[in-house]
Amino acid sequence: MSGNRIVVILGSIRDGRMNDRVASWVAAQLAAHGFAPEILDPADPELLPVQIGDPQAIDRLRQRMEGADGFVIVTPEYNHAEPGHLKTLIDSVTAEWWARPVGLIGYGGISGGLRAIEALRVILAELHTVTIRDTLSFASPWRRFDEDGRITDPDDAAAAEGAMAVFAHRLRWWTEALADARRARPYDREDE
Ligand SMILES: Cc1cc2nc3c(=O)[nH]c(=O)nc-3n(C[C@H](O)[C@H](O)[C@H](O)COP(=O)(O)O)c2cc1C
Repeated sequence: MSGNRIVVILGSIRDGRMNDRVASWVAAQLAAHGFAPEILDPADPELLPVQIGDPQAIDRLRQRMEGADGFVIVTPEYNHAEPGHLKTLIDSVTAEWWARPVGLIGYGGISGGLRAIEALRVILAELHTVTIRDTLSFASPWRRFDEDGRITDPDDAAAAEGAMAVFAHRLRWWTEALADARRARPYDREDE
């Protein structure tokens, strides 16, 4: 299937992070909807030096992102925005983002990560991406996900799966539409 390689970017590098639980649920759901998800973990020792601008680590990041049909960022909210190291990772590459769709999934305290999601839209527009309108948001994920990334309450799981079905439908449309568009007309910035 064309347009199905989705790089899932984790937003947290914190020890004991909730990110793994939420991202593993997201990756399983994307696979169930026919995508080929690949986890990109900024805490991976090969990628962590991106945080201090290490050129080799940035090359590795570029290789992991290159040729993706789209991205899904799974981010917590830290002080009403995305975590700083996620911003650094986003800022570290350019053309890999261009003309790609980005889906945004947030979690956190009472906000469910919604303010981090909206903060990311502004940044990602500058990088020539299209952010998917539909999102998923999880308040207090520590009460909802087990350590294997399963949502424990059946009603909660059914509601999240319903939201994911809409999200996946939109992501599919944008990955395919932008893949067709890039094939028809390579995306070049006039100022580069
Ligand atoms: C520095 C910091 C700031 C936070 N700020 C917010 C916030 O503004 N709004 C919110 O809803 N939750 C906030 N939280 C709660 C986190 O979103 C929540 O603990 C989440 O699980 C963190 O993700 P992680 O465990 O994957 O690192 C904050 C947590 C930290 C560590």
